[in-house]
Amino acid sequence: MSRAKVVLVGTGRMGAIRAKILYSNPRVNFCGVVDVNEEAATKLATVFNTKAYTSVSAAMQAVGGLDGVVVCTPTFTHDAVIREAASFGLHIFTEKPVEENEEKVTKLFNICRENNAKLYCGFQRRFDATYKSVADSVRSGKIGKPLSASIFFADHPCPPIEFLLTGGDIFMDLSPHDVDYIRYCLNDEVDSVFATGSSSDEKLKNAGVCDNATMVLSFKTGAIVTLTMSRSASYGYDQRCEIFGTEGLACVNNEHADSSIISNKGGIQQARLKHSFPERFDGAFATEIEMFVDGILHNVAWPISEQDCIAAQKIADAARRSAELHEVIKL
Ligand SMILES: NC(=O)c1ccc[n+]([C@@H]2O[C@H](COP(=O)([O-])OP(=O)(O)OC[C@H]3O[C@@H](n4cnc5c(N)ncnc54)[C@H](O)[C@@H]3O)[C@@H](O)[C@H]2O)c1
Repeated sequence: MSRAKVVLVGTGRMGAIRAKILYSNPRVNFCGVVDVNEEAATKLATVFNTKAYTSVSAAMQAVGGLDGVVVCTPTFTHDAVIREAASFGLHIFTEKPVEENEEKVTKLFNICRENNAKLYCGFQRRFDATYKSVADSVRSGKIGKPLSASIFFADHPCPPIEFLLTGGDIFMDLSPHDVDYIRYCLNDEVDSVFATGSSSDEKLKNAGVCDNATMVLSFKTGAIVTLTMSRSASYGYDQRCEIFGTEGLACVNNEHADSSIISNKGGIQQARLKHSFPERFDGAFATEIEMFVDGILHNVAWPISEQDCIAAQKIADAARRSAELHEVIKL
């Protein structure tokens, strides 16, 4: 069986998740871990019995016939890391978003194209069994014409303040997940955005970073979508999506730590929600890597297009401006 030769770049929250998946996938030859922090690279590489490097170039020189990289560095570094990987013609899977804004995303896709490097972005809802089933139902007309959607996304646990200050703008970082998903479900384009947000912490407020926000998206065919987001649910990872149409309703409900339900005179008690994104999306994260390998080895098309990635950041940026200006932004 042929195996894709892949290195991981970035050893933080997502890097640790991806390392485990790369190590356990029989179609991956996990050739190394890259991190600017040499100690962190060595630590993760040791766990997964692979080599540590401090740059993609160093990994490229050491590993013959490298096929691809999995980019798990902070979003503000994606530009440099993706450019470096593309310059060697490597295929690239990157954590979302590809970059912070529409212009940078467009540039990176162009650079990858010029270098014959494929660029795949991981909006994991597209690979999650429940989200996928709901999307397939809506797109095939099972609820008739979609009229509205209500989406709630509350992160848990709240990421560190350093992350929120450097890469955690709620519009740029969090909203693209659901914006991409709902655009795909409705098979429609956003016409205008209104957003409002607040900062629960003085440091976030001073830096202009919201940790709670609501976006109202008006789509071209008339559907209205509200997306409410928070960085800090106190009770678990809360992600729900309800799409209402002329002939039905399609829902993504929350997943719980286990499926027990205890009923007694005191009421009905259910297990807590799943703890966080690694638990909720473990299957989707593994499927993304399967499909990245399919892309490398068999040229299988990636379901999320360049236009999808550009649109998600364009809408996220319009929402941020809308919240600043208190105005509806027409796209
Ligand atoms: N899909 C999801 O649900 C999800 C969840 C969390 C984060 N993310 C995304 O994953 C990416 C990483 O986020 P994180 O929270 O894992 O970050 P993190 O801060 O936990 O880890 C980042 C790692 O990258 C390293 N690094 C920084 N610059 C580098 C460079 N130029 N080259 C090599 N290594 C470098 C750091 O030393 C650190 O080890 C972000 O783009 C974020 O948006 C996605």
